[in-house]
Amino acid sequence: MLKMQNLSKVYRTHLIETHALRGFDIHVKQGEFVTVTGPSGSGKTTFLNIAGLLEEFSGGEYLLDGINVAGMNDNARSKLRNEKLGFIFQGFNLIPDLNLFDNVDVPLRYRGFSAKERKTRIEQALSEVGLSSRMKHYPAELSGGQQQRVAIARALAGTPRLLLADEPTGNLDTQMARSVMQLLEEVNQRGTTILMVTHDPELALRSQRNVHIIDGQVSDLIRHTPSLVDENALATLHPANHAANLANAA
Ligand SMILES: Nc1ncnc2c1ncn2[C@@H]1O[C@H](COP(=O)(O)OP(=O)(O)O)[C@@H](O)[C@H]1O
Ligand SMILES: [Mg+2]
Repeated sequence: MLKMQNLSKVYRTHLIETHALRGFDIHVKQGEFVTVTGPSGSGKTTFLNIAGLLEEFSGGEYLLDGINVAGMNDNARSKLRNEKLGFIFQGFNLIPDLNLFDNVDVPLRYRGFSAKERKTRIEQALSEVGLSSRMKHYPAELSGGQQQRVAIARALAGTPRLLLADEPTGNLDTQMARSVMQLLEEVNQRGTTILMVTHDPELALRSQRNVHIIDGQVSDLIRHTPSLVDENALATLHPANHAANLANAA
């Protein structure tokens, strides 16, 4: 689904160079639910933005669904992005002046679907996130958890192959975060590959696979099963215990 090899990303200003990603290798298979963790500034958002074709990379190779995206022009990238990818952000990024129906419609308008097809997709997506009865409501009339559900519906309406989420539960309380995670798990079980950045060790442990990034590099790949979700496992994911975790894994 997604394969990066020896990928690098350098941000240059006239004063400094920041190596946001270096020697970055990852292979995400179709149908996986991968969480991405790591300290602030380690390169998580950079990785997700490059994966989502929102940013160019400086070197290395990136294959998205088997397509080599290096050197692709802007039009081709936009087309690929619209057709294959869905995005969810920490701040929901809904348009306040539009009701839920119209918010979900926004990215569909770029896809050339008929009005009828769009309506079907919007109703289906809002139904999947449990908000069918709120289609004419505005974002401000909803809780944070509900707003994030709308953002998920907006991403799903385009039937993406890969869903990219950057701290989607970062603005939510624990209860709402769990319910958004549960929704994403259901989406994944229906076949969508998910890549999710999170600061929340509980959520990271719930995924099939957790990728930890340190200083722009993949530092480890931990695979777990749901039975591993216990206090000890949570503790080993804490950054302070990361070295011990690596030692145990070796
Ligand atoms: N547009 C940019 N210009 C310059 N430096 C940037 C830019 N975006 C990110 N960086 C730098 O790249 C590094 C990785 O950032 P980021 O991917 O946002 O980390 P994270 O999401 O893990 O907190 C940081 O040192 C950050 O300051
Ligand atoms: Mg970030």
